[in-house]
Amino acid sequence: MCLDFQTLPETVFSEDTTMKVREYFSRIAANVDIFVEQFRSISDDLLYDEEYMERFVIEKIGLNQEGLEEIAPELRPYCGRGLYIWQNPRQFSKYIIWMLQNAQKYSSYLEIGCRWGGTFIVVCEILRRVNPNLKWAIAADLIEKPPFIERYMELTKNSGFDILYFQGSSTSEEFIKLVNEKKPEISFIDGDHRIVGALKDHMLVREYSGIIIHHDISSDTVPETTLLWNSLKKLESGRQSVEFTDQYQSQKGKYFGIGALYNG
Ligand SMILES: C[S@@+](CC[C@H](N)C(=O)[O-])C[C@H]1O[C@@H](n2cnc3c(N)ncnc32)[C@H](O)[C@@H]1O
Repeated sequence: MCLDFQTLPETVFSEDTTMKVREYFSRIAANVDIFVEQFRSISDDLLYDEEYMERFVIEKIGLNQEGLEEIAPELRPYCGRGLYIWQNPRQFSKYIIWMLQNAQKYSSYLEIGCRWGGTFIVVCEILRRVNPNLKWAIAADLIEKPPFIERYMELTKNSGFDILYFQGSSTSEEFIKLVNEKKPEISFIDGDHRIVGALKDHMLVREYSGIIIHHDISSDTVPETTLLWNSLKKLESGRQSVEFTDQYQSQKGKYFGIGALYNG
């Protein structure tokens, strides 16, 4: 298989609607196959190597091209490539290593706000690598099922690992019922970035999830999730916390940030 990512025209995000963008993504869905093949061939030694994994995130996973002002200038050539994850590679690489070391015992995963699906797919692969018995994962977003997730569902079909896509709001009755039935053991919250929305998501999963991850916890551009995280760290006194908030020196401000609250 050719291991070069297919890319979208640069104008896609500026000129087109979300529905139109979805059509473009279906043309590059084979990027999922390329990622999965490359990820599964990383040796165990390299998988836990922070520098290697940061380069892997940048060069072999690929970054989103929305919100470019939050991305370090030297990383911009890697935006609009691969799986279009909306992450800071320096933070995300350390976070995935932490997950490899701390999530082995959990068998289900929920991501609220999966966007194009790249982060969801990467985390599913991480969790499956450390726990071949990972049973299921749910991705949720307001938008129609992204083609990357459609492709990942095809790739994992009949493997004993089930993926469900929920289109709609995390505050809908249907979603609340689903979460209360399924009881996800790990939850990643990256949907509504208003403080009330992100807090509602937290309250929905806190009874079930041994690890709850929040995104944009140290961000000049998203102050409400930053405030929520600083509050939850104090309020959730029964849980331990870990943060991945490294920034690139070329940037003046603070962007993104990943925080996990977990049962020690
Ligand atoms: C920052 S993006 C997520 C990026 C993605 N997690 C990643 O790492 O690439 C936020 C997403 O949350 C979705 N969203 C916003 N409010 C939501 C809600 N109440 N329920 C579900 N999804 C929501 C938006 O449609 C958007 O796609």
